[in-house]
Parts: sequence; C-alpha cells; structure tokens
Amino acid sequence: FDAIAVLTSGGDSPGMNPAVRGVVRAALNSGVQVYGIQKGYSGLVAGDLRVMTSSSVRNIVQRGGTILKSDRCEAFKDPEIRQQAAANLKNAGIGALIVIGGDGSLTGAHLLAEESDIAVIGLPGTIDNDIFGTEDTIGFDTAVNTALDAIDKIRDTASSHERYFLVEVMGRNSGFLATHVGIAAGAEMVIVPEYQVNIEELGRQLCENRRTGKGSSGIIVVAEGREPGLTYRLAQQLQQQGEDPRVCILGHIQRGGHPSGHDRVLASGLGAMAVSYLLAGYNDIMVGVSEGAILDIPLDSVIRYRKGLDPQLFELALLLHK
Ligand code: F6P
Repeated sequence: FDAIAVLTSGGDSPGMNPAVRGVVRAALNSGVQVYGIQKGYSGLVAGDLRVMTSSSVRNIVQRGGTILKSDRCEAFKDPEIRQQAAANLKNAGIGALIVIGGDGSLTGAHLLAEESDIAVIGLPGTIDNDIFGTEDTIGFDTAVNTALDAIDKIRDTASSHERYFLVEVMGRNSGFLATHVGIAAGAEMVIVPEYQVNIEELGRQLCENRRTGKGSSGIIVVAEGREPGLTYRLAQQLQQQGEDPRVCILGHIQRGGHPSGHDRVLASGLGAMAVSYLLAGYNDIMVGVSEGAILDIPLDSVIRYRKGLDPQLFELALLLHK
C-alpha cells in the first residue's frame, strides 16, 4: 500500500491514543503514508481524512480519550453509505483501513472488507473486554484500575458508617469488568448479566452477616447490564431488611484517564502489528491476544460468536468473600 488510514470508533477507551501512535509510527517506518480519520465512521463517510506525520502522534501515548475523536455511526449500517466510505478511501489513494473499536465497530469493519476492495483490519478497543477471539482489549486494564481506585475510597466510608455500598460498573451486557473489579476489590458480592441472582436471598445473606458479626459493611459490585434498575432495587431490598445502603454508579469515569502501563504496551503492540499484518497481505481480520501472544482471527468469527465469562473466575469472585 502507498497509503493506509486509521480511525477510532464506538465508546472510547484509554489506550486508543497509543494504538493510533503505534499504527502511525509503524506505517511511516515502513514507508507507508497514513491518514487519520476524524470521528470514526462518520468522518470516513464525510471524507474527513487528514495526513498524519510522526509529530501528529507526539506526546499522546499517556493521554486518555482519542485524538481522532470517536462516534457511534448508525448510518454505517446502510450498505450504500459503506460504498460511499470505500469510494472516499479509493479516491484519496488509500488501500487499507485500521479500525480501533468494540463489537459494533468491528462489524462495520468486516462488512466494509467484504463489500469493497479496501483491506480492513480491526483492533479490539473497549473497556468491556467482551470481544470474542481476544483475551484482552485496549482500555480494560485501565478501567479495572479506575474502578478499583474509586471502590477503595468508597470502602473507607462504607466501613466508617458500617454500610453496604452497591457499586455499579460499566460493561454493557457482559460481566468481565464487574468480575475483575469484584475480585480485586475484595467485594462481598458480584452481580453479572451472565448469572441469575436472587436479590431477596442476597439481601437476607447480607443482613445475616451483620447479625452474626461476620460483616457489617462492604461492597457489592453490580454490572450495569444485569437489568435496568437492578442496583436500586437491590438497595431497596436491603433497606426493607433494615440496612442503610448507598448506591454509587461509577459510569463514564471508567472510560477516561491515563491509560495504564499495561494498556499502553498492549495498544502500541497491536497498533504496530496491525500494520505488519496489512503489509503481509492480510485482510478482514482482527489482531488480538491469545495466551499472551498477539495473533490474527477472522473478523467474521469475532462478530459471530459471543465471548463467555470464565466460570472459574466468577466462582473465585464469589468464593473469596465467604
Ligand atoms: O462499550 C463501552 C461502554 O462504556 C459500555 O460499558 C457502556 O454500556 C456503553 O459504552 C455506554 O455508552 P455511551 O457512552 O454511548 O453512553
């Protein structure tokens, strides 16, 4: 390729910047020109392509968010709009595209690869770590640590007031973030979409802990996707049983902040490897991580299958508070 393009799409995640930097620097070092597309697929459709130089990505490895901006682009579900996007790339002499984003963004990447002669490679960029075919995603480690930082503080006040706190973490429809955060925060309970929970039983158990002196305060981590309003219903249940719980929704704080060292290394490696795969002739793949090694997996599989929560890990989260 004489020129490639890179975009970030969907919910941003800490580490997207080092990934963009990895792509740009690796491509320039191989003599390939790079364009940065602004605001995800919306910018691609609008033809907002900007030449990236080595200095465009200077001083961004440590910055959260994405310098390219991001967007959830509904219009990209339309095949005609995707044709427009492919034409914009071709007209600019660009033969390949690297898409950094979550499952929706990778679906768009696969369709564009299938329907055009643009070579497309995806990188898993999401705090949710819910992408099939990769054990890690750019931003997950940072989000876990951001939630832990908040929960450690919440635990101080929970303990002073002998209260339970229901802390809701992000993760859309998956419990990866909640399970990791729950284990690392020493949570009394973790509630995830993948497993049923009996909230009455849970309420009884927590009240029983107070009665028997086993515990009188603590953290219950609830994944946002379990069901709308569950965190508040659980608080209500505890209240009816004589507790005085509080709810804390961590929300978008988990999407921001400096990427952790782990995410910077992961993102830099994936960004540079995406360029190597493109130059080696690969197309319609995601570059991800398996057993600690960077490898490729067809985008078709990535979007077809759902990544399951490791039952042993979830068991561990429940076991350790007993
Ligand atoms: O996919 C990342 C994520 O932060 C999810 O955990 C969450 O459900 C969703 O995005 C929130 O999206 P938005 O920022 O569009 O409200």
